[in-house]
Amino acid sequence: MVNQLNLNWPEFLEKYWQKQPVVLKNAFPNFVDTITPDELAGLAMEPEVDSRLVRQTDGRWDASHGPFEDFDGLGETGWSLLAQAVNHWHAPSAELVRPFRVLPDWRLDDLMISFSVPGGGVGPHIDNYDVFIIQGMGRRRWRVGDAIPMRQFCPHPALLHVDPFEAIIDVEMEPGDILYIPPGFPHDGYTFENTLNYSVGFRGPNGRDLISSFADYALENDLGGTHYGDPELTVREHPGQVEAHELERLRNMMIDVISQPEDFAQWFGRFASTPRHELDIAPAEPPYAEEEVRDALTGGETLVRLSGLRVLNIGGHFFINSEGWKTVDAKAADALCRFTELGQQELGDALQNPAFIAELTAFINQGYWYFDE
Ligand code: SIN
Ligand code: CO
Repeated sequence: MVNQLNLNWPEFLEKYWQKQPVVLKNAFPNFVDTITPDELAGLAMEPEVDSRLVRQTDGRWDASHGPFEDFDGLGETGWSLLAQAVNHWHAPSAELVRPFRVLPDWRLDDLMISFSVPGGGVGPHIDNYDVFIIQGMGRRRWRVGDAIPMRQFCPHPALLHVDPFEAIIDVEMEPGDILYIPPGFPHDGYTFENTLNYSVGFRGPNGRDLISSFADYALENDLGGTHYGDPELTVREHPGQVEAHELERLRNMMIDVISQPEDFAQWFGRFASTPRHELDIAPAEPPYAEEEVRDALTGGETLVRLSGLRVLNIGGHFFINSEGWKTVDAKAADALCRFTELGQQELGDALQNPAFIAELTAFINQGYWYFDE
């Protein structure tokens, strides 16, 4: 691996994670860019890649979504090109996410990469996720303000900005520096030179997302079919009133639906293993036979997980890309959750079990794992 992250994680988590922004100087010593501006522009031309171009001229903002057909006429100042989930599409850039696997996979959102020319940026804004902004090529000045209530407004329908803020961090970032920003802290990047920034983002779900996703799961699985009952009902003096104890019973009915630990884990595994951006899935062509998979692995070959694929273990229940997966070998399935590259040593005895090899072969043929060339 070219870029090595030098970060005291226990100290970082205790002092800064979700608490305070911080500049981690030279966290990637001798940082090497994983992508060129031209390659990033190429990705922004692909329909599968979520990209944006943000422009500013004399304080007037403009933003458009990709895919872009060309970048003619942009000029040399005042714009920034951003692509989401580059880790799903560009293997060398996906390597940058790997050092962050001391944090739980299910919290990761994606790697966003931006290329800005002098005067370019997305403007002062607040994010609702934790972000590690890695400085690549060029230098860029970043300002971060305190997390106090601020007015937000749209200078363009596709942009949400905040009012000017006082900086608690004002830094000129150099290649390999990281700026960590927890949710809610306003920030703004200015640049006087062409610059690349890599943002590793971690977004926590909000209650609304959880409730809405659980409601879908409850419908699909016929949960919560019991109706409200009130055998102790007495004559009501005020029929137009809902009593507090009735409200309490209704609330408890809803809580009971989510309180079944088995259903809760089954739902959450599906929810948390759903990618938030499209994956670059290519089924194996031609498909592998089971013996080929077994022979390759026992012969020392390495399996690599499709970048961005979410593979999770929740108390011995396994989930992959929004689906539950019943396995014949929990130990080997756990290894598939834990390692993004693995082989004989990690999979162990499961390689002698034809039923496990059949499971693995199906995943490989779907394009979820592939053999390292
Ligand atoms: C950028 O790279 O310009 C934006 C990153 C961010 O504000 O999160
Ligand atoms: Co931001």
